[in-house]
Amino acid sequence: MTSDHSVPAAVAPLAGKFISFEGIDGAGKSTHIGFVAELLRAHGKTVVCSREPGGTPLGEALREVLLRQAMHLETEALLMFASRREHMAQVIEPALARGDWVISDRFSDASFAYQGGGRGLDRSRLEALEQWVHPHLQPDLTLLFDVPLDVARARLDATRTLDKFEQEQAAFFAGARQEYLRRAAQFPTRIVVVDSTRSIDATRAALTAIVETLL
Ligand code: TYD
Repeated sequence: MTSDHSVPAAVAPLAGKFISFEGIDGAGKSTHIGFVAELLRAHGKTVVCSREPGGTPLGEALREVLLRQAMHLETEALLMFASRREHMAQVIEPALARGDWVISDRFSDASFAYQGGGRGLDRSRLEALEQWVHPHLQPDLTLLFDVPLDVARARLDATRTLDKFEQEQAAFFAGARQEYLRRAAQFPTRIVVVDSTRSIDATRAALTAIVETLL
């Protein structure tokens, strides 16, 4: 017999939608988050913009440590997922349950790309953490901003003081980019690769077309 109690809360359908933004540092994702949020608001959606690591007081404290301090690779991966667990409990799941749209500047694909592709952590470790932390939830759409390494590096050097990850060498970013693109091929309906070498206006036009498929 079916009753409400037979459906675990974790797999109950969520009313809102979840979009993650990904890409190597300097790929340009931050430039476009506000644009996509405004596009959704113009369609009457309530939008929650957040980021990882971070998005909660505890997550932001973890971010401070993660972006500044050297640590064991597994510690780094565990803290990324600890921040994510808190972010899901405090922000993402309540927002989706209310019917809001969530935009997160990075989610688990970043752990596969950076700790996996960039630093060499075994993918099975990351898959185990993903299964633990969000077995039933994936973004409805992941926008993967992609540019060649030299373009990303030039943008970074021109625009900011570099954090721990941004100070890494080319081989790290090559590995991260390769893993992002591998995942895009593995999950082609979820992850859309956005060529971010184009002008901002051209990228915005492409984003509008992609996001409108979700509306
Ligand atoms: P980023 O999102 O690029 O923010 P900002 O534009 O303010 O620099 O910075 C977050 C950094 O954290 C980025 O270098 C990628 C890294 N990161 C990981 O290594 N693993 C993860 O799981 C996440 C979410 C981020």
